[in-house]
Amino acid sequence: MASPTFPRSLMLLGSGELGKEVAIAAQRLGCHVIAVDRYAGAPAMQVADVAEVVAMTDPEALKAVVRRHNPQVLIPEIEALAVDALAELEAGGTTVIPTARATAVTMNRDRIRDLAATELGLRTARFAYAESAAELAAAAEPLGWPVVVKPVMSSSGKGQSVVQGPEGIPAAWEAAMAGARGSGARVIVEEFLQFEQEITLLTVKQWQGPTLFCPPIGHIQERGDYQTSWQPAHLDWEQLAAAQAMARRVTDNLGGAGLFGVEFFVCRNTDGVSEVVFSELSPRPHDTGLVTLAGQNLSEFELHLRAVLGLPIPEIRSLGPAASRVILAEQSSDSVAYSGLEEALSATDVQVLLFGKPDARPHRRMGVALATGTSLEEARNRADAAAAAIRVLPGG
Ligand SMILES: Nc1ncnc2c1ncn2[C@@H]1O[C@H](COP(=O)(O)OP(=O)(O)O)[C@@H](O)[C@H]1O
Ligand SMILES: [Mg+2]
Repeated sequence: MASPTFPRSLMLLGSGELGKEVAIAAQRLGCHVIAVDRYAGAPAMQVADVAEVVAMTDPEALKAVVRRHNPQVLIPEIEALAVDALAELEAGGTTVIPTARATAVTMNRDRIRDLAATELGLRTARFAYAESAAELAAAAEPLGWPVVVKPVMSSSGKGQSVVQGPEGIPAAWEAAMAGARGSGARVIVEEFLQFEQEITLLTVKQWQGPTLFCPPIGHIQERGDYQTSWQPAHLDWEQLAAAQAMARRVTDNLGGAGLFGVEFFVCRNTDGVSEVVFSELSPRPHDTGLVTLAGQNLSEFELHLRAVLGLPIPEIRSLGPAASRVILAEQSSDSVAYSGLEEALSATDVQVLLFGKPDARPHRRMGVALATGTSLEEARNRADAAAAAIRVLPGG
């Protein structure tokens, strides 16, 4: 990218809570922000100059909104986009973050897995693909039980299940078909890894300048979504070096610039030797990285923006132990209120973000509690207590 002049105009494709923080970072530098999502009142729209409600999986609708505003940079925030339209826009001179190809490759589990495991030789869980329940049964057997079954196109754990033995295969196939995005009848089946910990390595690829890494983030997932994360996660230096080497390799291949959330499992094999296993990656800020708002000198959102705009990143530094805990809705409601904010904020070194989503459904992420402490345990306890104090209620 040529040396940028300011202000710049940025279009966010997807306007959730992660996009909202990117928009805030962009507004602080006086950028013009156009926030796009499929529903009105999405979190990033609250802090954007312009909001557009568009079906972003529709190529014509996506191209039309881009042409209407003609932004200098397109910043995808979600996976479900008309990726061929992004490629066309990129060919026409619009910058797509990190690249149109990266958005296409990471949208499908098979494409990113083929790239990582087959082309680049990264260590992954053993896996196979299947296009029917019968193929799934045959593909699962040699992996050993249990296995994990996932639709190739899905996110947030949708359609994903752990299968204990052959009798569970028909139900897993049905669940995958019901949870898949789009019409593709293809699943990936993986050996189930009994990992010691699961981490996200936020990796910053710059237009010019070296690839940078954030301190690793540990996290816990339930029902396909992250529940809590903490930073810095403890890794041996060999484990960290292995993860960084894999993250550099895959992000170099995907190209462009921006922050990536690279997911790994840290396992111990039967000989007691530790192994770092690549899982998947997001070519954009990662939800587990919300913790960086409390734990780093520059958050993942500021880092993404700086990388996108070609601005300097002199140093990424941990500010000490930090943690996040999600605040979830319990029930469906078409308006939302919160209780317990006073109690949550009465603790020291705690912040609460409420995303301002217009409606709720069970387990929808409505906010997050962030905390720091003198130890990870203290930070995690503070984030847990703050999140537990807050209730999401109907009405408001
Ligand atoms: N092969 C596996 N072995 C053990 N756990 C897994 C495996 N694959 C996924 N998981 C668990 O399920 C979560 C979601 O899977 P992931 O592939 O990251 O899908 P998503 O795109 O929905 O985030 C992971 O973060 C991890 O906790
Ligand atoms: Mg994941």
